[in-house]
Parts: sequence; structure tokens; C-alpha cells
Amino acid sequence: MPTDRLFYRTQKDHWLRITHGEGVYLFDEDGQAWLDACAGVHVVSIGHAVPEVVAAMEAQARKVCFTYSRFLTQPQIDLAERIAALAPGDLNRVFFVSGGSEATESAMKIARKYHVERGKSSKHKIVSRWQSWHGNTVGALSMSGRTPWRKDYEPYLLDFPHILPPYPYRCPYCRDTGVCNLNCADDLERVIHQQGADSIAAFIAEPILGTSCCGLAPPADYFPRIRDICDRHDVLMIVDEVVTGFGRTGLNFGIEHFGVVPDIMATGKGLSSGYTPIAATVVREEIYDAIYAKQTSFAHGHTYGGNPLSCAVALAVQDYIAAHDLVDNCRSMGERMLAGLQPLLDNPIVGAVRGKGLLTGVEFVADKQTRAPFAPQQGVTAAIVDRVFARNVLIMPGAPGLVDGVAGDHIAISPPFTVNEAQVDETVRAVAEAVAETARDLGH
Ligand SMILES: Cc1ncc(COP(=O)(O)O)c(C=O)c1O
Repeated sequence: MPTDRLFYRTQKDHWLRITHGEGVYLFDEDGQAWLDACAGVHVVSIGHAVPEVVAAMEAQARKVCFTYSRFLTQPQIDLAERIAALAPGDLNRVFFVSGGSEATESAMKIARKYHVERGKSSKHKIVSRWQSWHGNTVGALSMSGRTPWRKDYEPYLLDFPHILPPYPYRCPYCRDTGVCNLNCADDLERVIHQQGADSIAAFIAEPILGTSCCGLAPPADYFPRIRDICDRHDVLMIVDEVVTGFGRTGLNFGIEHFGVVPDIMATGKGLSSGYTPIAATVVREEIYDAIYAKQTSFAHGHTYGGNPLSCAVALAVQDYIAAHDLVDNCRSMGERMLAGLQPLLDNPIVGAVRGKGLLTGVEFVADKQTRAPFAPQQGVTAAIVDRVFARNVLIMPGAPGLVDGVAGDHIAISPPFTVNEAQVDETVRAVAEAVAETARDLGH
């Protein structure tokens, strides 16, 4: 066991120490290069150690890194302007925080505050979906549908309803019919009726799933139906763009694939590419105006929200994305990645391959006919991730509990937006070899 003073999130004997990164590669203390095909955790949008970002960081650090919320700084104003310009519709008001959980939790509070200020103070519940992830703080975890991560903290969690996600491969409503009947979307209306619209403040969903079922996109008419249900019941529509925001899926925001404008958007990760912690909750003008119609302050916020260093860095990252046309690279490299992974479907343990832009995933099954998952104790996901790792490529294990809250094996592949064709091909090759070896090991 390590003898240092860290509070580890996982107990293991050997930890690789990373000394530096460059582009899509991380380097360990032995000088070994690792292809970072998961961008950290879908974070490092523009790659590591980009000189322009380092320069912006230094320039801002020489001016001022922190001011408290009594003041404004120019990077904060400029970044809010940039985010509003990128965001769809009139999502124009930007509330800065430091991470994705703070962003989704802020979305929850903003939704609540909006209703309170409009005299609808019974509206407080947020409806969300199973197989979803919105973060680890208590509000965010209450909205999240990742059963194994909720389990120990259930006594603290808020009483929020969850509905099924659109997941045709296993959907009890439409599995095997080949067509989604949108029953999963209509579940939102059923829940609103059951609980009473006067208790429901908002609905939250990831437009395209991140680690819960990487690359899973709903059918084209899912979000328009959700938007309609929300509108009819005065329920705000929140999208969690923490993973999908700022280009990863081939458009600026994942929800743009579906042609609807949400009321609130939570963002994070790719905003600053991980150079400094920053995230943002973006809201429509109407919501902002309602909150300030009768008062002059909103009692919510976090110490580091909107700090000038993080804002300057995020601006430099967004400049870099625009200057190098990286959103389009996500689209084209994502298409290449997905095409490269498709042949895996011939392998007896591969049940599904999915993806949108540079957010791709593969699901593994014990029986292709019945789609039965492997028993969790077989450790199939870990075996595959380890074998990819052995080829010096980093991918992420998909979150546990995909199928039924307990079982379900899958992986997430989400390299930086700067990845090139050779690096995509190298990733595909490593995954294909790892899957083939694992299948053989399992006797398939
Ligand atoms: C979709 C989504 N929302 C929210 C979060 C929480 O973000 P953070 O870990 O930065 O608090 C995550 C983290 O992985 C996420 O994937």
C-alpha cells in the first residue's frame, strides 16, 4: 500500500505517476507516452500543454487571479459574452461555478428560484432519468440515476422522481421493434400527472450520454417531445452539457442536434479543457428576469465562481477551439472512430457500438441473443480497459449498473478534439485487440 497521505478514491498497490502532457499524450516518470483517448474524463478538449493557453494563464496570473464577488473582471465579462454567443437561442445569462456538480446543482436552484419568484413555491422536484450522471453533491446526486453511486447516500438524497432513458437496445417499451415509440418521453408526462405539476420544477437530462452509456443519443423527436411536455406543465427543461458542451459531439452543444432550446444548460469540463477548474450554468433571459423582477440578489454561489484566472484560461481555450475548427474535427474524427469500431459488432461479446462526435461507447454482453449482461464479478469492463491500457491507450470504464443498476459492461472513448486520423486508428486497434483477447479469455 502507498505510504503517502492521500485519501485515495481507489485502493491499489501501484499508481502510475504522470509528469507531463503534450497534445493528446500524457507522459509518465519513465518517459512512457500514453494516448489519452478519454481526455481525462471527457475534459481535456484541446489537448495538454497548449502554449497559447499557458501564455493566457501566465498573463492573467500576472494581473490578478482572484477577486471576490463584489467586483467584476474583464475575463469574466468576456467569457460570459462568448458562452452566450455559442449557446442556442436566448440562453444568454451565465452563472459561473467551478465544476459540473456545482453547475447542475445551480441549475436546480435557479429552477426552484424561478418558480418561487413567480409565486409557484410548491414547485420543487426535479425529474431526471435512470442511467444518468449529474454529479456528486447531494442535489446533483439526487438527480443522478447511477444506482451504485447513490446507494450509500440514499438517506441524504432528495425525493426526486426518475424515468427511463431512451435506450432502444434495452428499452422495455420498444426493444426489438426497431422504432422508438417515445413512450420513454411520455413517461415524463405520466410522472408529472402522478406527482402533480404543481410539485415539479424541472426536468434534467444529458442530451447525449457521457459515462453512463457513452455516446447514446435519443431519437430525433425525443427532445422536441420533452420540450412540449415541459411547456404544457410549466416545467423547466434543463440539459446537462457538462460532457457534451463546447463541441465534443460535433456541434457546440449536444442539444443542438435536436433543434430545441432548453431553459437552462449546465456546462463544465471542456469549457476550460481542464487547465483550471471552471463550469457555468447558462439560463434564458426570461428566467433571469423573473428571478430579479422583485429583488436584487440571488442567494446562491461558490467562492471560486467566475475567478478571473479560470475565465481567462477558458477564453483562451475557446479561442483555440474556434481558431483550429475543432468542433468540425470532433465531427469528422468521431465519424472515423465510430466507423472503425463498427466491425466489433462481429465479436460475440459486443452488443452495441454507439457514438456522436468524439463521444463513443461499446457495450458488452454475455449472450448476444438475449442481451444478458455478464455478472459484475466477472470484471469484463475492467479487463478490457486494462488490456487497452497495456497498449498505452487510455479509455474509461463505463459507469456500473448500465443494465439494471447492478450489471452492465461498457467502455467510453472520448479523445481530445485535436485527435488525428492515426491516433483514432491506434485507439480503435487497441480496443479491438483488447476486446478480442477478452472474448477469447471468456471462452467465446
Ligand atoms: C454529465 C455530467 N454532469 C455532471 C458531472 C459532474 O461534474 P464534476 O465531476 O465536474 O462535478 C459529470 C461528471 O462526470 C458529468 O459527466
